[in-house]
Amino acid sequence: MSGKSSVRGLPVEAMSEDEARRELARLAREIAAHDERYYQDDDPEISDAAYDALRARNEAIEARFPALVRADSPGRKVGAAPAGGFEKVRHAAPMLSLDNAFDDEDVREFDARIRRFLGLGAGDVVAMTAEPKIDGLSVSLRYKRGALVMAATRGDGIEGENVTANIRTIKEIPLEILDEEFPDPFEVRGEVFMGHAEFTALNAAQEQGGQKTFANPRNAAAGSLRQLDPAITATRPLRFFAYAWGEAGSLPATTQTGMCEAFKGWGFPVNPLLRRCERVDEMLDAYRDIARARAGLGYDIDGVVYKVDRLDWQQRLGFRSRSPRWAIAHKFPAERAVSILRDIEIQVGRTGALTPVAKLEPVTVGGVVVRNATLHNEDEIARKDLRIGDHVVVQRAGDVIPQIVEVLADRRPAGATPYRFPKTCPVCGSHAVREINPKTGKADVVRRCTGGLICSAQVVERLKHFVSRNAFDIEGLGTRQVELFHEKGVVRSPADIFHLAERIKAKGLAPLEEWEGFGEVSARNLFAAIDERRGVGLDRFIFALGIRHIGETTARLLARTYGSCDVFLSAMHESTDPQSAAHGELVAIDGIGEAAASALAEFFREPHNMAVVEELLQAVRPAPLEAADTQSPLAGKTLVFTGSLERMTRAEAKAKAESLGAKVSGSVSSKTDLVIAGPGAGSKRKKAESLGVRVISEDGWFDLITR
Ligand code: IVH
Repeated sequence: MSGKSSVRGLPVEAMSEDEARRELARLAREIAAHDERYYQDDDPEISDAAYDALRARNEAIEARFPALVRADSPGRKVGAAPAGGFEKVRHAAPMLSLDNAFDDEDVREFDARIRRFLGLGAGDVVAMTAEPKIDGLSVSLRYKRGALVMAATRGDGIEGENVTANIRTIKEIPLEILDEEFPDPFEVRGEVFMGHAEFTALNAAQEQGGQKTFANPRNAAAGSLRQLDPAITATRPLRFFAYAWGEAGSLPATTQTGMCEAFKGWGFPVNPLLRRCERVDEMLDAYRDIARARAGLGYDIDGVVYKVDRLDWQQRLGFRSRSPRWAIAHKFPAERAVSILRDIEIQVGRTGALTPVAKLEPVTVGGVVVRNATLHNEDEIARKDLRIGDHVVVQRAGDVIPQIVEVLADRRPAGATPYRFPKTCPVCGSHAVREINPKTGKADVVRRCTGGLICSAQVVERLKHFVSRNAFDIEGLGTRQVELFHEKGVVRSPADIFHLAERIKAKGLAPLEEWEGFGEVSARNLFAAIDERRGVGLDRFIFALGIRHIGETTARLLARTYGSCDVFLSAMHESTDPQSAAHGELVAIDGIGEAAASALAEFFREPHNMAVVEELLQAVRPAPLEAADTQSPLAGKTLVFTGSLERMTRAEAKAKAESLGAKVSGSVSSKTDLVIAGPGAGSKRKKAESLGVRVISEDGWFDLITR
């Protein structure tokens, strides 16, 4: 990528026609690439401010050379075309974007422009609404006769993606509106987003599960909404604010404020900070008030949106190519501060990826102390020519992971030398290489340690992934315990977990209950929790293997497709031969891409991986996955089994419960919905009774599941 320096370059006023033509072509390419990363991959590479600057430059050149405006001009497009995976839907009315205002002057000019357009004088009142600009993603919710029939993302503004099943999992969005007066059809538009607390919790869980964490709440919301499996979306706490509408059989009001009142009446959340202003100064006051409230809102906003209140005026003002004339977004400046780069730390991930992290002199950015910043990869460091000791401008983009936006080269200490990215793994010393993509012939941006299982960082990360929440989910065995057991030499491979007591003994160590931090009870509970997971679901088993490109959803797809572990493994074994029928079947699965198929082949071709799997299968028997039944009375419930079961094994009971959409937990709390107590049940049963949680016998359980 030609990347971040692109706003620099020849001043627009000094350009010849030829230079302008070339620059417009370059900008069109570059903006399209950024759009794709933002809209399709949920993984923007540059800050919003840098992106806005690119668009502004494009616009300035087009304004000076109108004859050169390209057919694919970024000014004519909104976002990117939808990604594969979801059905495409054409919006009944296009979903547009907003123009930006960056300072008070721009807002005054907006007001003046509207007055000119409508032929109003300075004395006329042009009331406008002011409300936060939510940093999420916009969706259109289509209702027919009051029922939600379709929900679509914005996509390129003309065509979006059908995310109805996922939207239905958002509790704040009404599925049915019982008001007789509700227009038919009616499309409610608004923003889906994730709050800060929910985002932090999700990332912690993702990290624990060895899964990709999200750079900011916006990406987390987008990633959650674009899950192919709505069951996953349902676990993600998404929220919604309504602020606009699309196709409408009729309108319940004549003003923007009236429309928002109607939304509220129908049960849609409307931002409480929305207010009506009669003069520009009031709008600017609202902007400052909202800016002050920003840090305490608990969700990201990136500006204030002003809209002409009278709908007849909105109608008259109409639209330009990609935005309405009656609305504008007054953006907040990105929060920045200067700090000093003290060091660059290289972290080694589960797949061996070496990720550089900037260690900064602590600095407060927008009320939060920043010590670390992401540096992405080695090219990024080289592009910025970052050197230890440099003064750097730090920005909190989307208010979450800080980034270094600029190096203040004029404040560079004498003798600072360019950073040399290690060519060996800092943990195990193995070569670290950038793989060449066979298709493009280009080196991967990520440098990876080639040490595999001899690299203790990779081993530990893989073990953490193995026991994580969406994999084996062993209660009492988290990040800390994995590190401890690894350090003591007790657990080196996943199978060791299932022979924990023997491994401890073999190492000549004291029994677990005598270790610091483990009492008799917690040691016993841990062994029980491990035993309980010997019958883990096949989907979790596959996910736990930590194969590249095989996330939770793909693992579930594989488990559903192959049914049993034996069938899965023999198919995988066979499909390492690209000519085999098994390989053909694998790539034919809807949802298995080229990357996943070749990662599977690579994994199962490797003898030591097969050895790990075989060793593991001596100790665990993955249970086949049954289709989850969301209609069942157990869907969404949390169950605890205690005591002994006589009619089925624990593992079977658990798999059955999960197939009926329930979650099985090892301990009773106020969140428990039902306890199934067999003979010998003790403390868990008592606790359930004291909490008023319903307790049933195994026979009662049988009745429930065979209904
Ligand atoms: S009004 C026709 N109001 O900002 C214009 N948009 O940059 C309809 N957004 O696509 C949009 N908060 O995703 C509007 N209070 C708000 C908003 C808002 C966030 C987003 C929306 C829009 C984008 C434009």
